[in-house]
Amino acid sequence: MKILIFPDAEAAARETARRIVAQLVAKPDAVLGLATGGTMEPVYAALAAAVARGDCDGRRFTSFNLDEYVGLAGDHPQSYRHYMNRHLFDAIGLPAAQARLPRGDAPDPAEEARRYEAEIAAEGGIDLQLLGIGANGHIGFNEPTSSLASRTRIKTLTRGTVEANRRFFGPDEQVPSLAITIGIGTILESREALLLATGGAKAEAVAAMVEGPLSAACPASALQMHPRATVICDEEAAARLQLRDYYETVHPGGTEPAITAPKGLERTRT
Ligand code: PGA
Repeated sequence: MKILIFPDAEAAARETARRIVAQLVAKPDAVLGLATGGTMEPVYAALAAAVARGDCDGRRFTSFNLDEYVGLAGDHPQSYRHYMNRHLFDAIGLPAAQARLPRGDAPDPAEEARRYEAEIAAEGGIDLQLLGIGANGHIGFNEPTSSLASRTRIKTLTRGTVEANRRFFGPDEQVPSLAITIGIGTILESREALLLATGGAKAEAVAAMVEGPLSAACPASALQMHPRATVICDEEAAARLQLRDYYETVHPGGTEPAITAPKGLERTRT
């Protein structure tokens, strides 16, 4: 895993957006895996601004979102479909057929999950998977004890997750307790994974993901098995990392310096 630490949430989000733009420049018709949540809002604002400037093409990629609440139709203001339209898709004009999410109001949610998994495979899999992390270590809605080999399916949300999401709902609105989520096995098959974590509430989960044991108790720790995973965090989210000095030596200021042989190790000839 590459661990990149930035001074604040804004810089971390900017770097995340920069990497998505770089992916779209390299491959305009890439398949992106996208995430929702408060953490991603500045990322999508920066990405939409980059598309508006003409830095990359925002109409050729295909995206698959990680998850959707079971029971919410796409026009429900708290559905993730609605979130994505509002924060990204409408702004960049991504054709609807390329902006994929599971249907929360599908008559048979289990079948919808299977269909969604097959759709990802039919597009050739995900080139760049964007991820947030829950305070409990979830990725997508893969809650603790999710199988690390899981595929897209229905998950019951933990009480903590339901409470964390309550802030997005009105006082009289019921928060859904089930979601369709891409599986951890599906996430591990992405060609590149990019996880953004900001704020002190994520510090414990980030430490467990990066330095804890590979364990279903922290689903994000599965990324230790991903061949190309990058974690971008701000100072606050990095606060509990034990090997922080090491990450900052390898990636000073969140950069990726070219690797060159250190000077002074050459054998002197006599
Ligand atoms: P958040 O959600 O960005 O709203 O904190 C992240 C998540 O639960 O994956």
